[in-house]
Amino acid sequence: MFVRETQLVIRGNKKLSGKVKISAAKNSVLKLLAASILAETPVKIADVPRIYDVLLMLELLQHLGAHINWNKNHVEVVPVFNHFHADYDLVSKMRASILVLGPLLARYGRASVALPGGCNIGHRKIDYHIRGLEALGAIIEFEAGYIKAQAPRGLKGAFIDLPLPSVGATENLLMAAALAQGTTVIENAAREPEIVDLANFLKKMGAKIEGAGTSRIEIEGVSSLKGTDFRPIPDRIEAGTFIAAALSTGSELTITNVIPEHLGFVLKKFEEAGALFKIGKNWIKVLPSGRLAGVDIATFPYPGFPTDLQPLAMAVLTLAEGISVITENIFDNRFLHADELVRMGAKIEVTGKHAVIYGTESLTGVPVRAMDLRGGAALVVAGLAASGITIVHDAYHIFRGYENFEEKLASIGADIERVEVNA
Ligand code: EPZ
Repeated sequence: MFVRETQLVIRGNKKLSGKVKISAAKNSVLKLLAASILAETPVKIADVPRIYDVLLMLELLQHLGAHINWNKNHVEVVPVFNHFHADYDLVSKMRASILVLGPLLARYGRASVALPGGCNIGHRKIDYHIRGLEALGAIIEFEAGYIKAQAPRGLKGAFIDLPLPSVGATENLLMAAALAQGTTVIENAAREPEIVDLANFLKKMGAKIEGAGTSRIEIEGVSSLKGTDFRPIPDRIEAGTFIAAALSTGSELTITNVIPEHLGFVLKKFEEAGALFKIGKNWIKVLPSGRLAGVDIATFPYPGFPTDLQPLAMAVLTLAEGISVITENIFDNRFLHADELVRMGAKIEVTGKHAVIYGTESLTGVPVRAMDLRGGAALVVAGLAASGITIVHDAYHIFRGYENFEEKLASIGADIERVEVNA
């Protein structure tokens, strides 16, 4: 017997209540794990979420030679690497695998990493990663679907100007520059909190970095980095997902282990729609509000509205009063969830990078299909509000980035269960 498909089955139109604790940020932990390649001695990372993408990154590090010790949610990486080839079968499952390229080059002077394949949310190019590493002195060729990179005499600091504040490119280059000879400046760097977290981790390992969190990061290369222990920031996108669940069901819900300023613009946008929040030091309480009003949202690099919460905002706004326009500026195909929401009775018209949402009074539970991580989560949020039963097919997308997702939802009153369909 094997599992043909995993589904999430939701009986909607129920209020949520109580408290939910957010896990550590997937989009920080994946990079901290990649950065452990740079360390001469073991690295310990606390609170690592047991999610599919983390398991894949750990599998990749083991494949490269590292020893991994899990103890509950604490992970120790013993950084002994004797293999420098990241296979297609792993890289094609998780694009963040490309982030071992910079560290392997910086520490060992060589790496071959499969070109990441396509992705459901759009072209995810890596030209800024490649051009930046070449600026640092790497020699990079492409052969049979692999990036073959080497830096036999080590990397040298350089001035790098990113055309777009790419999160991944900023991270790959930040890690590579940490061990380069001399000074590197990354201009137009991404400013996401996960970049600051990675920089703080590298600084604890002995790196010399100034300006993380701003669009100009300056790195003074050092000769070696030592292992350290580190606790990652909470996951602002998971927090935003539970806020969307509370808003779509008109519930009172407290979200704990969150850094409210990481969601500044998101809270402001939802308040513009009529949402009510109480904000604490490390918690956010969503208060029951009447029916929200439609608002316009455009996604931008941090601190703008995050593209990762665009699908969640769309699920909420399908039930708002009036018209909302969502503009997706970051990815070129990140509206796959719209057609699935339309199956549930939403009224959405997608034209290019704009989605116009005409608010409806209610949604109806029907079978839908998750196409990507955040779009899948958006279908669950819509299902919580919908009358009747929503079956989210291909729910494996969701388990990539949300730890204990259905357990957390059930603990705050959702009627949701994971169903494994055997072939
Ligand atoms: C990170 O992806 C996140 N993933 C994404 O979260 C997030 O949506 C994205 O940043 C934007 O915030 C992780 O952190 C693991 P980018 P990344 O490089 O680094 C173009 C989730 O749901 N670009 O900032 O791949 C690219 O095509 C995931 O958790 C180039 O053109 O994002 C895209 O349109 C989904 N050339 C835009 O920049 C490059 O060399 C943003 O990409 C690199 C990027």
